[in-house]
Amino acid sequence: MLRTSLLAAARSPLARKVVERSPLTKPVVNRFVAGAETPDAVEVTRALRDSGRAVTIDYLGEDTTEVSDATHTVKAYVELLSALSEQGLAAGADVSVKLSAVGQALPGDGHRIALDNARLIADAAAGVGATLTLDMEDHTTTDSTLDILADLRADFPWVGAVLQAYLRRTEGDARDLATVGSRVRLCKGAYKEPASVAYQDKAEVDGNYVRVMRILMQGDGYPMIASHDPRIISIAGDLGAGREFEYQMLYGIRPREQETIARRGDTMRVYVPYGVQWYGYFMRRLAERPANLAFFLRAMATR
Ligand code: FDA
Repeated sequence: MLRTSLLAAARSPLARKVVERSPLTKPVVNRFVAGAETPDAVEVTRALRDSGRAVTIDYLGEDTTEVSDATHTVKAYVELLSALSEQGLAAGADVSVKLSAVGQALPGDGHRIALDNARLIADAAAGVGATLTLDMEDHTTTDSTLDILADLRADFPWVGAVLQAYLRRTEGDARDLATVGSRVRLCKGAYKEPASVAYQDKAEVDGNYVRVMRILMQGDGYPMIASHDPRIISIAGDLGAGREFEYQMLYGIRPREQETIARRGDTMRVYVPYGVQWYGYFMRRLAERPANLAFFLRAMATR
């Protein structure tokens, strides 16, 4: 119920105004977001790299309704990749891109605009030795995103995709993607989805996560296990013993566990969001976990 309300608020312009304008929000947002500008993302990348963690960086934004905003997002990624390169931090780094931020949601030609824009970012990543992963958004975009992935991979075979364990279709998508060279991030899924397409029950989502993880681990691709769930992390360690894969977690969530995993020699990649458009991302984090919401309310109450 709370999750549903918060996910609805994540897409409400009114709720957005209220939360964004509150001066009390900022310190809490800072826990999950690296900062507003490119140098902030670079500095956080440096600190994470120094502690043995890898990064995938997200320039925040989604549901773009103007071509100029999509173009601005592409420029931000190109500038970021160049700044990482100048600082010797680009090799092995990854950028995560929401296709709706580069035009997918534009009426008419959105799919093509998003493909062209994602290609520009892939090209910039290739130039500095970084990689690109296409984030997955709500289920109405899944087919378009997987089609764009296939087109991009013809030229950039290392472009990665995200599969969401809550979607009923995901087992089939995982079989299709568990092929040589294919980078697949598996997450539980963060959007409000109808029962016709998505499991609603947490136990069912978790069960499907393990089923899909098994397919990826037994396949020929490169699995990226994105979860903070100790049970999932432990099963991943068992299923992935002796093969290459990586763990992924979000910036600001379970940082001690991130360090522990990195210290034992496994690859731990941290998803680092930055930019001023943090609202949708932040609300999805609150929806995921009552403790995040409690942290937010406590911070507001004590100021
Ligand atoms: P879940 O939320 O079910 O929590 C399970 C357990 O994990 C908890 O009981 C607790 O033990 C632990 N835990 C979780 N949060 C914690 C916290 N804040 N502090 C301490 N312990 C905590 N989604 C999407 O739809 N599209 C996408 O492209 C992506 N991309 C993405 C990248 C990466 C790197 C990550 C980690 C996640 C995503 N997600 C995503 C979000 C994802 O779908 C999901 O919403 C969150 O990861 C939360 O799910 P968990 O697997 O962490 O478990």
